Amino acid sequence: MWDKLKAHCAKVSDRRFEDMVDDARAADFSAEAGDIRFDYAKTNIDADGRALLIDLLEQSGVAAKRDAMFSGQPINETEGRAVLHTALRNLDGGPVKVDGEDVMPGVLETLARMEEFATAVRDGSFAGQGGKITDVINIGIGGSDLGPAMAVKALAPYHDGPRCHFVSNVDPADVADTLRACDPATTLVIVASKTFTTIETMTNARTAKAWMAEQVDDTGAQFAALSTAADKTADFGIDPSRVFGFEDWVGGRYSVWGPIGLSLMIAIGPDAFRAFLRGGQAMDTHFRSASWLENLPALLALVGIWHNQICGYATRAVLPYDNLLSRLPAYLQQLEMESNGKGVSMDGADLVVDSGPVVWGEPGTNGQHAFYQLIHQGTRVIPCEFLVAARGHEDDLHHQHQLLVANCLAQSEALMRGRDLDEARAKVADKYNGDELERQAKHRVFPGNRPSVTIAYPKQDPFMLGQIIALYEHRVFVEGVVLGINSYDQWGVELGKELATALQPVVEGKADVSGKDGSTAALVGFLRKNGV
Ligand code: F6P
Repeated sequence: MWDKLKAHCAKVSDRRFEDMVDDARAADFSAEAGDIRFDYAKTNIDADGRALLIDLLEQSGVAAKRDAMFSGQPINETEGRAVLHTALRNLDGGPVKVDGEDVMPGVLETLARMEEFATAVRDGSFAGQGGKITDVINIGIGGSDLGPAMAVKALAPYHDGPRCHFVSNVDPADVADTLRACDPATTLVIVASKTFTTIETMTNARTAKAWMAEQVDDTGAQFAALSTAADKTADFGIDPSRVFGFEDWVGGRYSVWGPIGLSLMIAIGPDAFRAFLRGGQAMDTHFRSASWLENLPALLALVGIWHNQICGYATRAVLPYDNLLSRLPAYLQQLEMESNGKGVSMDGADLVVDSGPVVWGEPGTNGQHAFYQLIHQGTRVIPCEFLVAARGHEDDLHHQHQLLVANCLAQSEALMRGRDLDEARAKVADKYNGDELERQAKHRVFPGNRPSVTIAYPKQDPFMLGQIIALYEHRVFVEGVVLGINSYDQWGVELGKELATALQPVVEGKADVSGKDGSTAALVGFLRKNGV
């Protein structure tokens, strides 16, 4: 199948897809789910290519794997776990069984406890030593930071709770800057860590505890924990009433829907948080029921596979023309690269195609004035994913929003059309002539024929954000199944952690550098000489 697809790609690669994009293609190469429109007409995928991609998806057994995931089978085979973040948003979808036991009563009970606590924080019935909580600091990293940080930013117009801060980096600048801005007497610290062992998080949590202890008598009373490790949260001194647990079938990068989303719930309130969950659940229903040609996660995955594994484009840019989604690229970097950055298939064999792509991006229009130069005229093709809302939240500035939308549409059009040498010459013919005209014109040529997709929606709100995040989660799932990998483990982060632990005493000067390579030893020497 891969060979057939690559052969098809080779056959059509010189074609200018701009010539295909008429009204019929716009209708055929787009799909809508709820109020989201996904347009992939501005790609070089044609009906034959799409049929081959759908064959690939069917031969990979995506439908069966999808049903296995939703029904609690242990599809995370290397860790022997189910993958059930979807249960966290299964508000009215009936029982979900793991090893024969329905997990929904536990999920709903924890949700109710979170709602009770979030409400108490918001209305002041849970207070700090100095009164009503004014600031919430979420200390976590990776999935215990990126999801809530991204969502809190995305839903800023819905905030009516205390201020939320996020501390993730072990660089002391992160925690110190945040603590400086808060009053310990009215701050709630949430320690978010699935394992409650992550060194960055536990180090920052201890720093925050010491900071609070300087002014607050019972520091533990202003701490909450989000974790699967109840014993470790107790050892840290956090009362079980403020510990919100979840099960190992929730992967870190998929965990914003449950307790890890507590800071979001405190910021926007339980009702809006439920709307977020319902958005995710709506996308689950769509993913489980829509035909492949109408199925947004499947289509997004097929476009991704076409560009990455078939065409060989190594990166993809995620470009939200929605400033509220400014943290989405960072969030997707973990979701996509930690999930699908694997070199071996489930059975341990080397992959026969490339693993998932490098994902990166920034909100438009900022990126236009930074790196779009490379996207338009660089020698490598970078498929782009645009996200754009029809409306913003600033009704009095709607004309400004229209300018934003025009920019988004202009970029996908420019990438597709480009500008040929004749057009470039015409642009500068009044200024130059002869050889200088040729030289100047060449610098103004845009190759065009550069692919992009657009995800358009009416307006960012909790339900919409839930749909968008679940859309990307399921896209990652489909891509992972097609590649035959396990998207739900992350062994690739282990080696660096082990070496950091071993290097800490060396950096501190408590152990010597013997056994280290020459480069590392020399760097340790330099840094020690300079005060580390
Ligand atoms: O090191 C990677 C990782 O395990 C991520 O998968 C996870 O989201 C992050 O670290 C944080 O882990 P924890 O929530 O256990 O602190």
